[in-house]
Amino acid sequence: MKHPLRKVVVPAAGLGTRFLPATKAVPKEMLPIVDVPAIQLIVEEAVRAGAQQVILVSGRGKSAIEDHFDHSYELEDTLQRTKKKELFEQVRRISEMARLVSVRQKEPLGLGHAVLAAKPAVGTDEWFGVLLGDDLIDSEEPAIGQLARVSMQTGKAAVALMPVPDDQTQLYGVAAGPAVGANIQVEKIVEKPARGSAPSNLAVIGRYLLPPDVFEILEKVKPGAGGEIQLTDALAVLAKQGRLIGVRFSGERHDAGDRLGYLQANIAYALKRPELRDPLRAYMRKVLQ
Ligand code: G1P
Repeated sequence: MKHPLRKVVVPAAGLGTRFLPATKAVPKEMLPIVDVPAIQLIVEEAVRAGAQQVILVSGRGKSAIEDHFDHSYELEDTLQRTKKKELFEQVRRISEMARLVSVRQKEPLGLGHAVLAAKPAVGTDEWFGVLLGDDLIDSEEPAIGQLARVSMQTGKAAVALMPVPDDQTQLYGVAAGPAVGANIQVEKIVEKPARGSAPSNLAVIGRYLLPPDVFEILEKVKPGAGGEIQLTDALAVLAKQGRLIGVRFSGERHDAGDRLGYLQANIAYALKRPELRDPLRAYMRKVLQ
């Protein structure tokens, strides 16, 4: 198998209703974690793992994302003239990070449908990664790279899994199957199982490593949970064929699609910044008294 991570798909067509009014005119993917838009953290993870092309599946009102990864001549020129070398380099680096192409998902018909919209850009002869912007994973080895490694070793598709409390399984795709070392051979995978009916407490977190024929599978998938075309239902087909590994990745995951998770992510990432760490800790001690 050639390296399965040349191309990655980043679905970013959602309306971001959980973050209104902030997301009325600003794509939710551009909301900052400290001072870095969440989507930049996602693209950085993919690039660190070797991705060369990022396929953004976007919708109306998302052009700020494309602008963010493009050159900004005016800004770069000003930063250079005013000798703000560090900022200049930072801004420059973002636009040189990866080749970004964007495709449109014209109707919000679900995550599976969004991934299918990337088919013309991915093509039908190579494996690819999928990263969901709401799931931030802070880890030494990029999470999507951990999946790619397992995929290359096994020749199988991979999905990231993490144990969650029993009362949260209905919020996720949930997978089960026999252990293979630290991972599992997925035999069953269900999208948002009703309370009490989850096959395990291993939740799908938004990282996937997929074979090109997943597009054919997605083309046949019928609307599932919430009436949407679910990526999980395509994974269930791969699982039935014995072609899906669930990877218990290492790293700290934050749900940036949830307001509390978003605030926690900001605190966690800020605490890693040497210039913010001490004053933030002092402030937290003060407010918690
Ligand atoms: C999506 C997937 C779900 C997965 C989750 C991870 O759901 O459909 O299987 O567990 O992402 O964040 P969403 O959170 O978009 O409803």
